[in-house]
Amino acid sequence: MGASTRTAAVAAADGRRALVFGGSGQIGAALVTRLRGAGWQVEALTREARRSGPGLRWLQGEFARLPPLPQACDAIFSCGPLDLFSLWYADAAIECPRVIAFGSTSMATKRAAADAGERELAQRLAGAETRILDAARARGAAATLLRPTLIYGAGRDRNLSRIAALAARSGVFLLPRGACGLRQPVHVEDLAQAAWSAVDRPASHGRGYALPGGETLPYRDMVARTLAALAPRPRLLELPAPLFRLALAAAHAAGRLRGLPPGAVARMREDLVFDMADARRDLGYAPRAFAPTAEMLAPPP
Ligand SMILES: NC(=O)c1ccc[n+]([C@@H]2O[C@H](COP(=O)([O-])OP(=O)(O)OC[C@H]3O[C@@H](n4cnc5c(N)ncnc54)[C@H](OP(=O)(O)O)[C@@H]3O)[C@@H](O)[C@H]2O)c1
Repeated sequence: MGASTRTAAVAAADGRRALVFGGSGQIGAALVTRLRGAGWQVEALTREARRSGPGLRWLQGEFARLPPLPQACDAIFSCGPLDLFSLWYADAAIECPRVIAFGSTSMATKRAAADAGERELAQRLAGAETRILDAARARGAAATLLRPTLIYGAGRDRNLSRIAALAARSGVFLLPRGACGLRQPVHVEDLAQAAWSAVDRPASHGRGYALPGGETLPYRDMVARTLAALAPRPRLLELPAPLFRLALAAAHAAGRLRGLPPGAVARMREDLVFDMADARRDLGYAPRAFAPTAEMLAPPP
């Protein structure tokens, strides 16, 4: 049976079917909700035991230990680790005409990073994208790659939600003076909408898109607006660089600052800006301006 005949048969029987990787993640959860709301039947991989419900069946496992997966579906979405997904997809025996996978703008921003680990990440993302596009082409399917900038909105991101949590604890947040590199924070719901609308947008076949947020603003303003969403509102203190370095070292020594990526402080001065024109044209992408609320920054219950 050809891909389009099979798609029509599946759709007529029980609504369209999606296989989702990373369906429990910040983007994935928003996407799964959207798909279910539109009447799709979703099967989603997770490493945890989760309760299935109407329109959603969780498949427990991981890429290294996959459970039986469906043999056919109408669309595959990847909202988890792109490199693992690309390796699976390259060899997968699944009939599916459409693949939509999230990568990251880090592929571009970290390509020439000082840190070898970050350069390696950029390379891995680029390799994974190529693998997915090649595999899709070889089997007559259409792939679309989506590359978000800095994600927020579900209270589970490691950027703004983390800043909000740190600031709420101490009542103050420190930044080095001159943290004016431009940023484009993007809300998870805008990303889920982009993935969902990509399914039926043939112009996006075989292409990759940067998905920035709807507003471009300096790093310090992004942080100030994040703090302004909290009650009580923590103070933003901008310190001269040497003083900031001392404060950072003290916070590290006290164990209050773990996991700050290498180069993160230097990057606060760099512009990380992407053009959304292609996504707007091909996906109807129209992300919201940056107006965070306490709810968007608080961890889910
Ligand atoms: N966070 C950002 O700011 C950012 C920015 C740009 C791009 N991105 C990219 O956007 C995509 C989604 O990011 P996110 O922040 O929404 O993800 P996330 O919240 O960190 O969730 C990751 C998801 O991947 C699944 N997962 C992790 N390891 C897995 C494995 N070994 N096998 C199978 N599933 C696995 C998790 O499922 P379970 O835990 O249920 O097993 C979870 O659903 C990723 O490709 C990420 O690189 C993120």
